[in-house]
Amino acid sequence: MVSAGPLILAVDQGTSATKALLVAAGGPGGGEVVARGSAPLTETHPRPGWVEQDPGELWQSVRLAVARCVDPSLASRVVAVGLSTQRESLALWDRRTGEPAGPLISWQDQRTTATCADLVAAGAGPLVRAASGMPLDPMFSALKARWLLDAHDPGDRRGAGLCLGTVDSWLLSRFGGEHVTEVGNASRTQLMNVATRQWDERLLDVFGVPAGVLPAIVPSGGPFPAVRDLAPLPDGVPVLAVLGDSHAAMFAHGGWRPGVVKATYGTGSSVMAIGDRGDAPGLCRSVAWDVTGPVLAVEGNIRASGRTLGWLAELFGSTAEALLAEAEDPDGVHLVPAFGGLGAPWWEPGARAALSGLTLGTRRGELVGAALEAVAFQVEDVLAAVQQTVGEVRVLLADGGLTRNDRLMRLQAEISGRRVFRSAEHDLSCLGVAHAAGLAAGLWTFEELENRPRPGDTFEPAGEPAGRTARLAAWHEAVARTRPGADRKGAADE
Ligand SMILES: Nc1ncnc2c1ncn2[C@@H]1O[C@H](COP(=O)(O)OP(=O)(O)OP(=O)(O)O)[C@@H](O)[C@H]1O
Ligand SMILES: [Mg+2]
Repeated sequence: MVSAGPLILAVDQGTSATKALLVAAGGPGGGEVVARGSAPLTETHPRPGWVEQDPGELWQSVRLAVARCVDPSLASRVVAVGLSTQRESLALWDRRTGEPAGPLISWQDQRTTATCADLVAAGAGPLVRAASGMPLDPMFSALKARWLLDAHDPGDRRGAGLCLGTVDSWLLSRFGGEHVTEVGNASRTQLMNVATRQWDERLLDVFGVPAGVLPAIVPSGGPFPAVRDLAPLPDGVPVLAVLGDSHAAMFAHGGWRPGVVKATYGTGSSVMAIGDRGDAPGLCRSVAWDVTGPVLAVEGNIRASGRTLGWLAELFGSTAEALLAEAEDPDGVHLVPAFGGLGAPWWEPGARAALSGLTLGTRRGELVGAALEAVAFQVEDVLAAVQQTVGEVRVLLADGGLTRNDRLMRLQAEISGRRVFRSAEHDLSCLGVAHAAGLAAGLWTFEELENRPRPGDTFEPAGEPAGRTARLAAWHEAVARTRPGADRKGAADE
């Protein structure tokens, strides 16, 4: 029985699934989760390095997750909706009919690697880095925008009658209203100027994207169109907050103060710290959110975390959960999951995944163990870069689907030599945008959010520093073998 009072519906449109939470205003500091729903998603790989999702399927997964979460008897009590979304993935649709004009090109997609290399060779790297805050890389939306326009509007490329948008923008378009995007999501397109928070004409020029096809950039509190066709909610419930998924998780950790560092372990991983200290070598500077003013974050992204387990599961005809139960000490086996190149801090789009250290005695459980170790090693590599920018990181706040795995959390503390605090709520992206929406609806204050209990458990660092150094050195040797341009580290920045 859900006690009386207003409710917030939060939706997190992730890469592997859409998740929904119904959050009540009651409880200390507000924000008690009273119901949940989710709906899985598929992705396709039409060619090597290509990763697509179906924009229509994404929207239907949102509808399904909401229908599974919200009992019709509670629908009229929902006073506001918050929306958290996977970032960088890009859709193109017809402005008049709303019909997709192409697939959603996933953030994981590498089809634009050659164009990216051409732009680097032409010397575009420094301008792109300075204006967008991020190294030139196929993960961001800008190169996908150019590809979508070339493939689906090859004429005069003015994109007349078409809308380009990240997942937030696409889902909001299902509600009607203006073509809009939230500033934190816009920041991850690589077309927005991180300082002015507007589309940057020089970037539009570099990537060949006409301004008319892009949405208007609005703060994280909107204005956004109210919901429509989202049963059992009545039409017209306001959307009061939209955040990028990684940013929303940071918000839920209460990480709006400089110095807090979190890692979200989902399909990929994102390590983020609030604060702007100018250039951040190997990392991205992006707008975290604009709730009561713009807040900047430094961030490093890892392309394959849970995705590596998904890949092993496909290979062995099993599931990630079942495989995780088999995980063993990898005993010298390394799996470097550079399936779609390497992200932070290497930024090597041409890297390819590799397994090393195999013997005829290598077991499946050791491969699973190696996949888990790779998640922890990659997060530690980014933490080392974050540390150079924000100072010593003693505690890592952890969230995301993969943090359900105790072995991974223990490994992370061991490999990093840092304390790891795991949030009891795994779907923290959902909870974070619920917090932001409730704030906008006046259900709680910043102070109440700040002081709310954040339940979780802690994993203490174990082992000797010398052992850690040796393990990291062996990992880095394995990483170096996957990087065709290992001698060109940071080339995109030069
Ligand atoms: N019981 C479990 N224990 C550990 N890991 C799990 C479990 N169930 C699912 N996972 C892993 O969690 C991952 C999904 O996590 P999550 O739902 O946070 O990702 P996502 O939001 O879809 O992706 P992203 O945030 O990167 O867009 C899957 O890749 C899967 O391997
Ligand atoms: Mg997620």
